Parts: sequence; structure tokens; C-alpha cells
Amino acid sequence: MFLKNYWYPVALAQKVGDRPLSVTLCGEAIALYRDSAGQIHALSDRCVHRGAALSGGWVENDCLVCPYHGWQYDAQGHCRKIPANTEQQRIPFAAKVPHYDAIERYGLVWLFYGDLPEADRPPLPPLPEYDDPAWRTVQGEVTYTTHYTRVTENLMDFAHAPFTHSGSFGAASDPLIEPYKVEQLPDGLRAQTQFTKSAYRGIWKLFNRGDAPRTVTTTITLYMPCIVRTETDLGNGFRFIGYGANLPIDAETTKTFWLTVRTFFTGAWADGDTVRRSLKIIEEDKRIVETQRPKMIPLDDRSETHVAADALQIGYRNLLRQARDRGWAIAESQPADQELVPAAK
Ligand code: FES
Ligand SMILES: [Fe+2]
Repeated sequence: MFLKNYWYPVALAQKVGDRPLSVTLCGEAIALYRDSAGQIHALSDRCVHRGAALSGGWVENDCLVCPYHGWQYDAQGHCRKIPANTEQQRIPFAAKVPHYDAIERYGLVWLFYGDLPEADRPPLPPLPEYDDPAWRTVQGEVTYTTHYTRVTENLMDFAHAPFTHSGSFGAASDPLIEPYKVEQLPDGLRAQTQFTKSAYRGIWKLFNRGDAPRTVTTTITLYMPCIVRTETDLGNGFRFIGYGANLPIDAETTKTFWLTVRTFFTGAWADGDTVRRSLKIIEEDKRIVETQRPKMIPLDDRSETHVAADALQIGYRNLLRQARDRGWAIAESQPADQELVPAAK
């Protein structure tokens, strides 16, 4: 199940340069390109003339040019020029392709996927720290072979760290999750828990000399349907944020754009270590999450067994059901080149 009417990250912004870039969102091929002012635009990656991929073309007059017969499409998807036409021959009314509203933010390209009017859309999932000079960001992308709901739920999981991450930050000696409250947000959920952290490795020892145990506060925020922000407060002003923005590519493929944002070691010298640590943690998760069956989390409450520590995930499943019942679900078996059709309730 894919969901419409949300913002989705589709690419690292730096990957959209002079050439168009092809991305896939919820099974639909989309061409991204920059105009002469540097603004990013997104059009369906299928020319209405003979179905060639527009992303194989180039940008001219701020239009995306199809590489087959040179039709030029503007940012709204309207065909502006057909080179084979004479002056007297008009551009057919049907010569247009769907376009998507695009925003470049936090080093990512975001598309609004759906049909809600602008005033009714949820805001972009916030990450103001990205532009704050007191914070330092590293980012990247990784592909999971599974459904985005499993990847998203993993990012919201308080109880897995002592096991899945025993090779990195997980404290195997402290698996207990104290009961926590789940706060409902307009388009998501938030919950907070505290851990005692005693084992520090690598450069992290620098801010915990003597290895005295510390209380660490972790706040997880979900922005529907698949963005998760995890803020960890280590005390004494040391804070870091893991921001996982998921792109549902198809029913079995998810790309995660990850950002790690920190208030400490903000020099470039610590970037390499932060990237390595982030990738190691992602690799530990990926190894487990790709084994989960079924690949999409089941939306009935009976086929998996829940405990109190899973309160956040139970809340996520409720929100997925609510979005589906609102008519925002898109069946995944649908061929990628058809129109959006809400799934039966
Ligand atoms: S297929 Fe695109 S111009 Fe002919
Ligand atoms: Fe994890």
C-alpha cells in the first residue's frame, strides 16, 4: 500500500545538476530537472508522444526536451514546442504530462504526491537544525529491499537497540523500556524515553571521560507516512538527530535518505567518523529488516503480537489505517503508468 497526499523525498539535491535525473516514487517514474534559475521541477518521465523517457533528454529554454523527437515541456508539463510542426500547425491540447510540486530542502528534493489543494497539505517534515550553524550535518542514501512501512517502523523502535545494535551503540545490559506515552501530532506521533548509557567507543569517549554512566533522552517523532526524526540528548549540550526520510520506490524497494545532525565535534574532521558510524548502524538495521515477512507491515492487529514497548509502532499502524480509510491508499499492483485510484475501503 502506498499513500497519496504526503510529501516524499525523492533525491539528494546535489544529484540534480545539468542533466535530468530519473527517480521512482510509489511505482511512478518521474524526471527531475533544474531550470536556468536553479529551481528544480518534476514531470512524469513518459513523453505523451511515443512514451520515451524524458529524463534521457536535456534542458533548453527552461523546458525539458524529449530525446526522441525533441518535444519541449515546461515546468507545468505543457508542451511548448514540437520541432516537426510547421508554423501553422498547432500543439495538440493533449500534449502535456503530469507535473509534481517540488521543493529543495535539507539537501533533498521533496515532491508532493497527491491531489490535495495546497492549503490542505501537511507541512514538510521539519528539520530547522539543517540550516543552523550550531549544528553540523552529514547525509547520504541507502536502499533497502523491503517495503517502506518496515523501514519506517524500524526507525521508530525503542526496544531493538540492545540486540540489533549490540555491535555499535546498543547496551546489551539494559534492554528494559519503561512505559512511555505516545503524543498524537496533526500528521504523526511523538514519544520519549530515557536510557542509561555506559559504554562509549571511538571518539565518543572524548565527551565522556572516565566512562561514567549518563542518562540519555531519546525523542522519536514520526511524520506520516515515512519520515522519522530521532533526537538524542546526551546532556551538557551534546545533542544529535538522526533523520530518516524514506522514499517508497516500489512494493519491495525503499530508499532511505539519512541525515545525522550534531551539536558536538562540528568540524569537518569528525564528518568521516560520523558517516561511518551512521552507515554501520543502518547496515545493522538492514540485515534484520530485510528478513521481516510479510514485507509490508500487516495492518490487522492479530497477525503480529504486540507488547507495551511497541506503543509507537501500534500508533503508526493506526495512522496507516486511518489514511487508508480516508481513501488515500494506492494499490501497489497497479501498473506504474495508470492514474491514481484510491483502494477500496
Ligand atoms: S517520444 Fe517524445 S518527442 Fe517523440
Ligand atoms: Fe536501528
